[in-house]
Amino acid sequence: MKQTSPFRLDGKTILITGASSGIGQATAIMASYMGAKTILLGRNCEKLKETYDQLNGPSHEIVVSELTEPHLLPDTFKQFNSLDGAVFSAGTAEVVPFRMINVDHITRIMNINFESPINCVKHLIKNKSLNKGASIVFITAVANHISPVGSAIYSASKAALEAAARSIALEVSKNRIRLNCLSPGYVQTPMFDQLAEKTKLDELINLTPLGIIQPKYIATSAIFLLSPASRWVTRSTLTVDGGLTIGVR
Ligand SMILES: NC(=O)c1ccc[n+]([C@@H]2O[C@H](COP(=O)([O-])OP(=O)(O)OC[C@H]3O[C@@H](n4cnc5c(N)ncnc54)[C@H](OP(=O)(O)O)[C@@H]3O)[C@@H](O)[C@H]2O)c1
Repeated sequence: MKQTSPFRLDGKTILITGASSGIGQATAIMASYMGAKTILLGRNCEKLKETYDQLNGPSHEIVVSELTEPHLLPDTFKQFNSLDGAVFSAGTAEVVPFRMINVDHITRIMNINFESPINCVKHLIKNKSLNKGASIVFITAVANHISPVGSAIYSASKAALEAAARSIALEVSKNRIRLNCLSPGYVQTPMFDQLAEKTKLDELINLTPLGIIQPKYIATSAIFLLSPASRWVTRSTLTVDGGLTIGVR
């Protein structure tokens, strides 16, 4: 009998937000090489096309929509059906001393990092767009519990997402849908490069025993959570931080 790897995604359709850059882009590319049809969802068509050009195989799709405008989501999400997985990677980070934060900062960060994935999943569930056994992955961050200086709202947005994920996972489990969080440490992406210009991230990276992580190694963990190999994993957080968050030396 022919054996197929439980890590493969052949025949599956996977939606990926934030697919234009960094972790989302790496996840989309790897998912395509593992046999999936991918739907790249984002706001910047040109950047999404750059990802599209790196995918393996035909019949992938690009869907352009602004994820932080709740009134646009019903129309965007009504076109999705028979999804086997969804990865929510779209997000933003800003290092701001707490005394400097204002309502705009809080709204901007919470909007894309917390409200957007929650609203998107609500539409997927309401529209019955997810197949039985589908897997949802939220990209969170170890900041949600180590809370570095200048990251009060960013850390809170990811902590809120992880808390909500555990509750949503209970509600969708009756359809054998799984929901997990993937929590990276420092990953070499455009987001990281932007933050590195403004803060001494080198000092923090030096605290990571295995050093800075390349996006494709967050992607491999996302593939695991999407695949049948993680069939019994739900309501959990997979930490991929190069050893950063265990502080014993
Ligand atoms: N890099 C790290 O060290 C690190 C560590 C832990 C967690 N994370 C998390 O990993 C996820 C991906 O980050 P990354 O490092 O891959 O960053 P990135 O390379 O900057 O990519 C961010 C993605 O999010 C999208 N995005 C940002 N703001 C958006 C908005 N308002 N509406 C729609 N899309 C928006 C971007 O789309 P555009 O192309 O349209 O801008 C881009 O596709 C984020 O949730 C981040 O918090 C990153």
